[in-house]
Amino acid sequence: MTGGAGRIARQVRDRMADDCVELRLVDRTPFDAVHASETAHVADLTDAAAIASLARGVDAIIHLAGYPREADWDTLIPANVQSVVNVWEAARGAGVKRILYASSNHAVGFYPRSQRIDAAVPTKPDSRYGVTKVFMEAVASLYAEKHGVRGFGMRIGFCSTQPTEARMLSHWVHPDDVAALVAVGLTAEYENEIVYGVSANSRSWWDNSRAQALGYRPAHSADIFIEALQAAVSGDPIAERFQGGSFAAEGYVSRG
Ligand SMILES: NC(=O)c1ccc[n+]([C@@H]2O[C@H](COP(=O)([O-])OP(=O)(O)OC[C@H]3O[C@@H](n4cnc5c(N)ncnc54)[C@H](O)[C@@H]3O)[C@@H](O)[C@H]2O)c1
Repeated sequence: MTGGAGRIARQVRDRMADDCVELRLVDRTPFDAVHASETAHVADLTDAAAIASLARGVDAIIHLAGYPREADWDTLIPANVQSVVNVWEAARGAGVKRILYASSNHAVGFYPRSQRIDAAVPTKPDSRYGVTKVFMEAVASLYAEKHGVRGFGMRIGFCSTQPTEARMLSHWVHPDDVAALVAVGLTAEYENEIVYGVSANSRSWWDNSRAQALGYRPAHSADIFIEALQAAVSGDPIAERFQGGSFAAEGYVSRG
């Protein structure tokens, strides 16, 4: 698991460590604590040789490392582009059979909230960050088609234990459900898939039937928070129009 010291990784690890024979963690940030089934390695994913060595003998990679929000290209390219190249090359070289990876709703953030989309729609990134996630989905597709490295792209909404604003009534995902989706990605039969990392929210913008077909059964729903949160909107009409919210609105040039 890359990015093993990060926010989502820590929550997923707590939920899956007991089911793993060995979970090899890598992050550039030192680890606080590890479970009995885990080994921790501090390395930077921009170091291709280090990642190639860590990938040896691994069945599956869960790639969660990355810069998780909008930034300038100089920040995003090493974390979300060069690292991706190194992870998929390491997997190919070591014969790793599958890579599950944290894509993002921001790969499709310029779809309007009025439109329900599935995982097959063309991408519409809402930010430089979103473009790096589209890049990762493209790399996964190439390595699945050409090299037989299975790809499982999870377009994660917003992961937290509780939604805190109206937008999350649509795109929130509980960590239990991220862990459930990871379990599907580790065991299901597929070649190259994109699924949405979202709980069972009735206001979701996403048709997640591919995830369902592969066995994903989210246990949580934001619906119990509708009354409390439906008025908690941003106040920005551009952010409210697009699924990507403030990522779409930042720097947006209004037309006409
Ligand atoms: N948090 C969310 O709700 C959300 C939503 C959509 C997608 N995602 C994606 O999920 C992943 C995890 O997000 P998070 O919120 O846990 O972020 P996070 O910043 O808490 O964790 C990311 C981890 O990656 C590590 N990392 C970054 N660059 C690295 C490098 N070059 N080498 C080694 N380690 C590196 C960081 O040290 C960090 O521990 C990210 O890829 C993010 O883009 C998160």
